[in-house]
Formats: sequence, structure tokens, C-alpha cells
Amino acid sequence: MAVNYKELGLVNTREMLQKAMAGGYAVPAYNFNNLEQIQAIINGCGRTGSPVILQVSKGAREYADPILLRNLGKGAVEMACSQGYKIPIALHLDHGDSYEVCEACIENGFSSVMIDGSHHPYEENVELTRKVVNFAHHHDVTVEGELGILAGIEDDVSAAQSLYTRPDDVEDFVRRTGVDSLAISIGTSHGAFKFKPEQCTKNEQGVFVPPPLRFDILAEIEKRIPGFPIVLHGASSVLQKYIDIINSNGGKLEAAVGIPEGQLRQAASSAVCKINVDSDGRLVMTAMIRKIFSENPKEFDPRKYLGPAREELMKMIMDKNRNVFGSAGRY
Ligand code: G3H
Ligand code: 13P
Ligand code: ZN
Repeated sequence: MAVNYKELGLVNTREMLQKAMAGGYAVPAYNFNNLEQIQAIINGCGRTGSPVILQVSKGAREYADPILLRNLGKGAVEMACSQGYKIPIALHLDHGDSYEVCEACIENGFSSVMIDGSHHPYEENVELTRKVVNFAHHHDVTVEGELGILAGIEDDVSAAQSLYTRPDDVEDFVRRTGVDSLAISIGTSHGAFKFKPEQCTKNEQGVFVPPPLRFDILAEIEKRIPGFPIVLHGASSVLQKYIDIINSNGGKLEAAVGIPEGQLRQAASSAVCKINVDSDGRLVMTAMIRKIFSENPKEFDPRKYLGPAREELMKMIMDKNRNVFGSAGRY
């Protein structure tokens, strides 16, 4: 049975992204796969008064079941309401790779979808994206398209090298597809290993410092489509604190490098209105769980390790909203 997101109390991303554009901040888009992650996201965003986009990848749909995920989204809205949080909440498909998966999500209560045609030739990307937009807009669901390729792994698709978005393409793409927002490639990538050590310099603390994002390309894109919401994927900072906890408790994540927070702050104050974070959440939870298991090898109650992991994730989300994305208090 088809369900419209409005019946669930969700909103699409149109108004939140317009407000972010006008206010010079970015709306956080956090990926979730399970109960503890969605609790941390809603409580973190609720406590900071930040609008939020709950993101579900194709992998998450397979892991957690689409019907259950939709009901977690519905439950998230009700829980937010019962806690007195007034924040708008969108439920978004991340990296939809076909018309069919977008259609299924729209009919299953999602308020926003991404159709990622960036791996197709340009004209095919336009065609596919336009087809999704036609169906989505009929249901007042917003659509994110993508131009340019990020390095790293997105579900089954992996790219060894990034291909920056060509500013020459963006105006044509936005006009012909009717998309509501556009994901671009300016040097970010998915996962915890965004840059090879040889691409980085080392600071005094021995921490890898990556090359800066291509803000020149972003500025050129902004000139071509003024006032149009831009999305940044692959924007985890890979916080050293959690890498250290993981590595000192049996993990092996040497040479993990992310996007420095200062660069994300800069992006958030530009036309970048939505910033995607998945890996940072995974790292926080892994760090806390590893620490608890090393400190207390007798622990076997999932609440005793997932609970602290959830608490730390919420703190990280609050910090990002306040100090990186500037989205706190913007509901
Ligand atoms: O963009 C990719 C997201 O981090 C989703 O990752 O496909 O492992 O769920 P996943
Ligand atoms: P990270 O891997 O940097 O968290 O990026 C997540 C993302 O872009 C989800 O679409
Ligand atoms: Zn992504």
C-alpha cells in the first residue's frame, strides 16, 4: 500500500535548503541503518534545534528492510514531537541508482530522493534524472541529482579517481532535469580513507593534512546557477580522536584522512546547503564499542555498548551542527 510522506509528518527538503541558502549554513544529512543511529540523530538535532535529513542508502535498505526503515522515520517524527523538538525532518534516499528504487521509496513514504546518474554518460544522466523528477514532483517529493564523480565507494559502485564537476554542465543539467539540488565533486570522497598519505602533508602532531577542496570550481558553479542548492557528499572529517581510540583498542585504521572542519565551515557558508555524513558516525560507534569491549571483556548486553556509542554519536552530531554546519537553532 502506497504511503505519502506527509501522512508521516515528514517534510521534503525544498524549504530547508532554501532557508540554508539564505542563512549561510548547511542542513546536515546523516545516514542511518539502525535504531541507535536514528535515536542519536534525532536527539542530537532536536537538542541543537537543527533541521535534519535522515538518509537511507541502498545498502541500508537491504540491511534493515525498507518498511522497517520507513517506520523508523515515522517513529522519529513522533519521538521528536513528544520530546518537544520543533525541527523539520526529511527522509531521503541516498545514492538511488535506478528509477525503480526512487519510485519504490517515493511510494514508501520518503520525502526526498537522490538519483545518482553520475556514473552514466551525460545525456543518460539527464534522461534518468528527468524521469525521476517527473514522478517525484507529482508527489511533491524533492530530488537531488549528481554531476561529477567522487572517489571512494558508494554501495557497489567504486571509483578510483574523482572527476570534478564541470561548471560548463551545471546550468544545462539543472534546467533540463528540473532537479531541486545538485551534488557536486570538488575533492571530497566517500569513506574513511579519502586521501592517500602521499597526497597529504603532516602537521606538527604527525596528523595528515589533505589538499584543499576545489573552492574555485564551487565558485564557478555558483556563478552559473546562482541561488541553487548544492550538496556535498563524502564530507566526514574522520576525527582523529576516534581513530586513536579505535587504533589503541585493537583496530587498524592507520592513514585514515577526512575533510578538515574549517573547509566544511567555508563550504557551509556558500551555496552548499546540504552536507552528507556517514563515516564519522560509523567511526564514533566503532571507537566506543571497541573501548568498552577492551575495558570490559565480560560485557555481553548490547545496550551496555550500543548505549554509550549512541550517546557519543549524539554529542558528535551536536558539535557538527553547532560548530561546523552552522545549522543549530535554524529550524
Ligand atoms: O555514500 C555512501 C554512504 O556512506 C552509504 O554507505 O552504501 O555502505 O550504506 P553504504
Ligand atoms: P562520508 O563517507 O564522508 O561520511 O560520506 C557520506 C555520504 O556522502 C553519504 O552519501
Ligand atoms: Zn554520498
